Amino acid sequence: MKWMTSAEAREAFLDFFEEMGHRRVPSSSLVPGNDPTLLFTNAGMVQFKDVFLGLDKRDYPRATTSQKCMRVSGKHNDLENVGPSPRHHTFFEMLGNFSFGDYFKRDAIRYAYELLTKVYGLPENRLAFTVYENDDEAYNVWINDIGVDPKRVARMGSKTNFWQMADTGPCGPTSEIHWDKTPEAGVETIIPLMQAEDDRFLELWNLVFMQYNRTQPDPAHTGQFDEQLPAPGVDTGMGLERVVSVIQGVKANYETDLFMPIIEATQRLTGHTDAERDANIVPYRVIADHIRAAVFLIADGVLPGPKGRNSVCRLVIRRAARFGAKLGFNEPFLATVADTVIDVMGGHYAELVERADAIKRAITKEEIYFRRTLDRGLAELNEMLDDLQSRGETQLVGDRAFYLKATLGLPLEVIQDVAEERGATVDLDGFRRAEEQHALDSGGGKAMGKLEAVDLYNAVLSQLKDEGKLGESGVVYDPYGDTTMDDRVLALIVDGQRVERAMTGDRVEVVLGYTPFYVEAGGQVSDTGRIIGDSWELAVEDVRRPVGGLVVHLGEVVAGTPREGDDARAEVDAERRAAITRNHTGTHLLHAALRHRLGNHVQQRGSLVAPDRLRFDFTHDARV
Ligand code: ALA
Repeated sequence: MKWMTSAEAREAFLDFFEEMGHRRVPSSSLVPGNDPTLLFTNAGMVQFKDVFLGLDKRDYPRATTSQKCMRVSGKHNDLENVGPSPRHHTFFEMLGNFSFGDYFKRDAIRYAYELLTKVYGLPENRLAFTVYENDDEAYNVWINDIGVDPKRVARMGSKTNFWQMADTGPCGPTSEIHWDKTPEAGVETIIPLMQAEDDRFLELWNLVFMQYNRTQPDPAHTGQFDEQLPAPGVDTGMGLERVVSVIQGVKANYETDLFMPIIEATQRLTGHTDAERDANIVPYRVIADHIRAAVFLIADGVLPGPKGRNSVCRLVIRRAARFGAKLGFNEPFLATVADTVIDVMGGHYAELVERADAIKRAITKEEIYFRRTLDRGLAELNEMLDDLQSRGETQLVGDRAFYLKATLGLPLEVIQDVAEERGATVDLDGFRRAEEQHALDSGGGKAMGKLEAVDLYNAVLSQLKDEGKLGESGVVYDPYGDTTMDDRVLALIVDGQRVERAMTGDRVEVVLGYTPFYVEAGGQVSDTGRIIGDSWELAVEDVRRPVGGLVVHLGEVVAGTPREGDDARAEVDAERRAAITRNHTGTHLLHAALRHRLGNHVQQRGSLVAPDRLRFDFTHDARV
């Protein structure tokens, strides 16, 4: 085995695949470009999702990346394990190689084996393998092409060996490569222990054979909603932190050169001896993990804030600050630790160095803000606990605790810690009930209605496909050509039902086979205009894409009786479109000007592009 630094291991991976004809592609942002199903990029394949689905093309059939990933929510969520677990992280780097309809199982396995055994020099007798239970093809490649001992290849079920990015999307069977921590336990027990998911093995690399597009959630894994992809491909992922822990011969990812400098930077601030540090290793790890996440998030424009992605950035900074308090920090300290993250990672991720000052300012500001919140919340909590004590009670009722969290931003864990210190407990069931009630009151419960609507649109879409009125990719969307287009009415929807005809005065949704109308995206509002038939007219007020492949024009029938099958002419309000286009150009000019005046860290976060105005949201950590 060759000892390498993490930077060398990352470089050796990318180099190897470049030599094997792969394009070295930079990591995409932690904020997925155009994918509302994902909060953060959580795998290397995310930037290639549409390429796998056949919706996008690249001028290279093979790629390799080291991808920045966050796993803090949704299908792949590791937050709770960070700290106690030696291997879990919120932020991590995934090394990967990808084939878009080029090579498949055989070469994917060959490359992986060669990289591990030749480039990294891992001993062959320390590796074990898994394949999906009925994947004879992958099994035979391992045994016959590579020549590994069949006692090292375990067949596994869909829980471990079928990978999907999210509930829907590209997916397929996998083959994994594991590191055997205790080879002295013998080859005979490899398969049974692997199948029992025994701790003997450390999963290093996941090779996914992308074969299907899952079109609907399928928790029972029946496969009934899986459609074949236009061309099968390969998506692999190996956690850099893990493979480096093997290469460097250490027991925890935190002991590699990716984390040790960060832990030591914290230790210099606490003044702990090594023994004291190791006795407090969980806070040290949480801080190291979370500060990396915060640095990378802010570099990608995700500043701490109250909602969505920003709330995750806030969460990791506040959690790091809380664990810092356990080590005795009373003042902001995270910016100093962030400096080390920027040192360790800045060589490969230049954005950290470019935005170093803005990153550190944002972190410190959040720490100060958190401290104030904490002080206010703790003062109230202590009053509540005084009150409790004076009545001789020991349990804080749930909705009081929820009030502290919802209104004052005091984390539940802090409430529990403080209560415990004063010999009291928190009524957790009551807390959850208050939380649920709050979610209902604020409209979360309405999501059910939305689900039903999605069912309706999915049904209309598949009916139109079955009736041969729409092709596989659905409505042809062409908002970039003529603003007028002749076609036919394919479907009419009134009050959530497909109908054959609509009356004057009805509010209706119209589906055409083609549309020149732009559908709201990236902040640019939808076009308006009209759809005209032989003796009827619809005033189009809005255009939506309720499910992929279906575009509906919403509006009022202002004259006549449109029917399914009628000829129809779609006309975009061209003057309004031109005004929108001008404002769209305006956002680009504004963005360039802001970067020029405030610095390159300024990134667009959102925008509204309407005919009469534009709004441009951007990230900057101070008043302009
Ligand atoms: N996309 C696969 C994973 O994340 C490789 O494990």
